Amino acid sequence: MTPNVMGAQRRPLIAGNWKLFKTVAESCALVQELKAQLPAVTRAEVVVAPVFTALASVRAALAGSSVRLSAQNVYWEAQGAFTGEVGPLQLRDVGCDYVIVGHSERRQLFGESDADVGRKARAVLAHGMAPIVCVGETLAEREAGKAEAVVVRQLVAALAGMTDAEFANAVVAYEPIWAIGTGKNAAPSDAQHMHAAIRGCVASAHGQSRAASLRVLYGGSVKPDNAAALLGQSDVDGALVGGASLAAGSFCAIVAAAG
Ligand code: 13P
Repeated sequence: MTPNVMGAQRRPLIAGNWKLFKTVAESCALVQELKAQLPAVTRAEVVVAPVFTALASVRAALAGSSVRLSAQNVYWEAQGAFTGEVGPLQLRDVGCDYVIVGHSERRQLFGESDADVGRKARAVLAHGMAPIVCVGETLAEREAGKAEAVVVRQLVAALAGMTDAEFANAVVAYEPIWAIGTGKNAAPSDAQHMHAAIRGCVASAHGQSRAASLRVLYGGSVKPDNAAALLGQSDVDGALVGGASLAAGSFCAIVAAAG
């Protein structure tokens, strides 16, 4: 893995979550565009997360670039009688560096619990990859003043039981559900507030140095025109991008905003 930290600074991470979009051919075509258009010099680590069926072809298409590969989900067992699942052994085998776990779409549409997300995160780490652990509140939870409590609950469950070495590779993504796919991003100051709360929670549970090196990404309607303001917040260490990652122009502009 590329070290998370460059000197005293956390290295920005810009990840494109392609969700259930694109065929294999379309995914590879986007990789070719990214290779041509990504800034030649960037501080950011860049990651793309295609659908399972495109992982092998995208891995091959990424040859010669520093863009890293992520899956969007995983089951926590490496192998066994689990029809229809894909495990961490298979994702490592196909060349993944990262795996998104606990995305709100998985929690809401497929019933993933906090405990499931924790199992997935630890399975990813145990197979030498880094989990991008997603947390975030609904609009109703935010309006009820429970946003921080919900995020802390999700975080504690996901990070429980990690060793120091494992923890060093974990990434957290704060994605308020009301901001996903809606065009309404969190105000940069609200994102900063939650990211600082996340880091504070990690500091009290796991120590100051782990908290200081943890990368916390923001996700939810990140676009070229709001990326710089969000990424300019001191505790925002990158972005998990949905819709704007599906076109090379907008994704590259977000990478460029990371500096
Ligand atoms: P959008 O950028 O489309 O709002 O999606 C965010 C997201 O869910 C990334 O995981």
